[in-house]
Amino acid sequence: MAKIVGALTTSHIPAIGNAISKGLHEEDYWKPFFQGFEQVHAWLDRVQPDVAVMVFNDHGLNFFLDNLPTFAVGAATEYRTEDEGWGLPVLPPYHGYPEFSWHIIESLVEEEFDIATCQEMAVDHAFINPMRLFWPGKNPPPIRTVPVHVNTVQHPMPKPSRCYQLGKALGRAIDSFPEDLKVLVIGTGGLSHQLDGTRAGFINKEFDLMCLEKLISDPEALTHYSIDELVELAGTQGTEVIMWLIARAAMTGRVSKVHSHYHIPISNTAAGVLLLENVA
Ligand code: DHB
Ligand code: FE
Repeated sequence: MAKIVGALTTSHIPAIGNAISKGLHEEDYWKPFFQGFEQVHAWLDRVQPDVAVMVFNDHGLNFFLDNLPTFAVGAATEYRTEDEGWGLPVLPPYHGYPEFSWHIIESLVEEEFDIATCQEMAVDHAFINPMRLFWPGKNPPPIRTVPVHVNTVQHPMPKPSRCYQLGKALGRAIDSFPEDLKVLVIGTGGLSHQLDGTRAGFINKEFDLMCLEKLISDPEALTHYSIDELVELAGTQGTEVIMWLIARAAMTGRVSKVHSHYHIPISNTAAGVLLLENVA
């Protein structure tokens, strides 16, 4: 049977992709940020997951404001990248795993999550940058992927409590796939940031650190926030933390922290990394 080996979450700021392309890893601005991924690389080398279920938010590349599902799951053989206008390179497509995608889709719909299904899907910086951070120099990385998109670009956005339930259902879907696979659930976005308006540049370290702690020990505590409260506390784009909650909620066994890292700012954003493993 498939087994969830861990949940790995990170920010996905476009500037990271440019720093990777330009090889800025040793520069003063970037060094403390990239150092936060060394332990992740060691863990991935050791554990060698077979599949990544990627929970992320499309930012207008694949879906636009006129046609924007709340939740969507990819079921393609590959996921292409395109020029998003950030100056990021167009990379070779990521490997899909349609049989696993359809199993997850059927399981989620059976559990009354009325998701969109995408047999064709382009993926943006929210998918690409975490992949490049986790598997440096490997384009595409040696892993099959199932993209799970969650709307955080246009209101109304799904509530944290709903996202938590989605994560739980995702965990059950993964656990019931009858292939011997090591599955890593990835969540991308956040932490606190606001890109527009009078509070542009807003970061809330205290709130972010509280989230990092609760994600480990008591993720349900984060389900009590409304989206409006998240906007207030984490900034308009800080709502992306719901991707971290979904990835964490998918974990079915006993959870142990492997690594966490927090660095501010990268661009306008508080950059976080959290790696949890399943010890059950
Ligand atoms: C930035 C952060 C994001 O999450 C994003 O999607 C785009 C830009 C930023 O801080 O620049
Ligand atoms: Fe984003």
